[in-house]
Amino acid sequence: MSEKFDVKLDEKHYIPDPRIKAEAWTRDYETTYGEFLNDPEKFWGDIAGELEWIRPWDRVREWSYPYARWFTNAQLNITSNCLDRHVLNHRRTKAALIWRGEDGEERIFTYRQLAREVNRFANGLKSLGVQKGDRVCIYMPLVPEQIVAMLACARIGAVHSVVFGGFGVSALNARIHDAEAKIVITADIGVRRGKTIPLKGIVEDAIINAPSVERVVVLRREEPQVELLPEMEVDYHELMEGADRTCSPEVMDAEDPLFILYTSGSTGAPKGIVHTCGGYMVGTYYTTRHVFDIKENDIYWCTADPGWITGHSYGVYGPLAVGATIVAAEVTPDYPDPGSYWKIIDDLGVTIFYTAPTAIRMFMKHGETWPQQYDLSSLRILGSVGEPLNPEAFEWYYHVIGCGRCPIVDTWWQTETGMQMITTMVGEPMKPGFAGKSIPGVIADVVDRNGNPVPPGTGGFLVIKEPWPAMLRTVYKNDERYRKYWSTIPGYYAAGDLAVKGEDGYIMVIGRADDLIIVAGHNIGTAEVESALVSHQAVAEAAVIGKPDPVKGNTIKAFVILRTGFSPSEKLTSELTYHVRKTLGPIAMPSEIEFVERLPKTRSGKIMRRVLKAQEMGMDPGDISTLEE
Ligand code: WTA
Repeated sequence: MSEKFDVKLDEKHYIPDPRIKAEAWTRDYETTYGEFLNDPEKFWGDIAGELEWIRPWDRVREWSYPYARWFTNAQLNITSNCLDRHVLNHRRTKAALIWRGEDGEERIFTYRQLAREVNRFANGLKSLGVQKGDRVCIYMPLVPEQIVAMLACARIGAVHSVVFGGFGVSALNARIHDAEAKIVITADIGVRRGKTIPLKGIVEDAIINAPSVERVVVLRREEPQVELLPEMEVDYHELMEGADRTCSPEVMDAEDPLFILYTSGSTGAPKGIVHTCGGYMVGTYYTTRHVFDIKENDIYWCTADPGWITGHSYGVYGPLAVGATIVAAEVTPDYPDPGSYWKIIDDLGVTIFYTAPTAIRMFMKHGETWPQQYDLSSLRILGSVGEPLNPEAFEWYYHVIGCGRCPIVDTWWQTETGMQMITTMVGEPMKPGFAGKSIPGVIADVVDRNGNPVPPGTGGFLVIKEPWPAMLRTVYKNDERYRKYWSTIPGYYAAGDLAVKGEDGYIMVIGRADDLIIVAGHNIGTAEVESALVSHQAVAEAAVIGKPDPVKGNTIKAFVILRTGFSPSEKLTSELTYHVRKTLGPIAMPSEIEFVERLPKTRSGKIMRRVLKAQEMGMDPGDISTLEE
């Protein structure tokens, strides 16, 4: 593929206040990047040296295509770095975790308190017979105990598989099965938009055909307490009560698995992505510190649930490794009203805020008056992840939320990459629509099918050319699938995304390669057309699909959610069609527009276009276990 995408390389950019750059951990992107290129092993070795190891490494990296080992023969425990290291220094009484419930309940844990909880629960798990290498499934709501459970597994070397608490029986069952989990940790209920979700009940159904499961640990939140099944179910608090407050960290090899995480699966069957202890720790520690430019006094909030990779890397492990104060909240952005996030930022003085474009677009839809009711002046840095941050959403985030003061880090990465890979480092010029450049330590590029770099302005495949510490090591029980990541485009890791580079090397991520529509022989990215639609003032959200057409191969059909104050009409349909034509050209013009109230999404917010497509064509939508409702 090397046809012109006809992406307008909008040269609009924002230059942050020079003081931001002068004070950033990465002060000079070009110099740091040069140092990395000059000696990648020294670059990563120096970063790893900032952390604590039980035994140092023999080699920083061993690369035998397509298998990499990082920090070979080193020994560590990630929780010693996330907890003990801080308990032994000035962070002992620092807040590690500030948790908020939907009803405003607040719980705060200092580093010392969090460490104790983790140790006790680790001992509790041991008392149930959990050993190093065993898989433990964590199916919990976003409560402190979810984070405690993850860290407790890591403490004793058990491999956690966190399953988002919004998944249903069959998705949970498939994940328990594949990982052969010995223990499932859950809660009686999750809370979402004023309703309760019966998690324990879902677990009971999900383990019927899962012989690997020996015990279920249940956190009981509700009064009166639900009954537990004797022999099978164990109360979380009872397990904690008898447990010792200290638990020595299991000695882990750098390449021992830390966790399995099943990908969100907007494209087919879930894959168990395997991450290991050493490289993952180093990669998430470094990116958290440098991309968010975290300083000692920051209050950092990543809105992602730990059920997703973003929650793993930037909600738990990365920020705790740097010793930050993290906020976690069991809230939805529009409940009880569209001010719920802004209230938390105001109340807690959040300085760094990391969320997803789908949330930002939802906020845009509800208008500026919501954020304007709150004091957001504590904010210093804004982050985005999960989908392309379209220029309109960028502008809104930048001006309405950041008041033109806060750099936006639009971070591109994946469950597979484990850590952020592309962004615009704090202090560097920002270009709306462009994620940015490779983070120092990473070599990303846009290439054609054969791996040759495409010229600026031409679409291509996003690849990573060299291994990086937090990369996936395999796909659980499916190493062939792992090798495919490295063989689709010879020699490189193929991310499966389409992208385009500007003259200045900035990368714009267009969307998934499988979300491409070929219309009359031209490649059209669904994300491009959607972005064009969303740039119209009437549109809140849009999804487009290709419909088979005898002449053109495909035509484009768009599903559009309107903003409050606009209603469907023929006039609006033709206005939108014309708007896309004007923005992207006639080839990208939708031939059909349907106004809808909602779009099928995965629980991480990705639009499931294949569900729309299946509906449209009267076909079976395939695996929809990841669908939100
Ligand atoms: C998309 C989430 C554009 C991309 C961390 C990728 C993005 C997939 C961005 C991975 C971004 C993530 N700009 N697209 N900043 N961040 N994506 O595994 O298509 O849930 O391949 O990891 O999300 O989704 P995953």
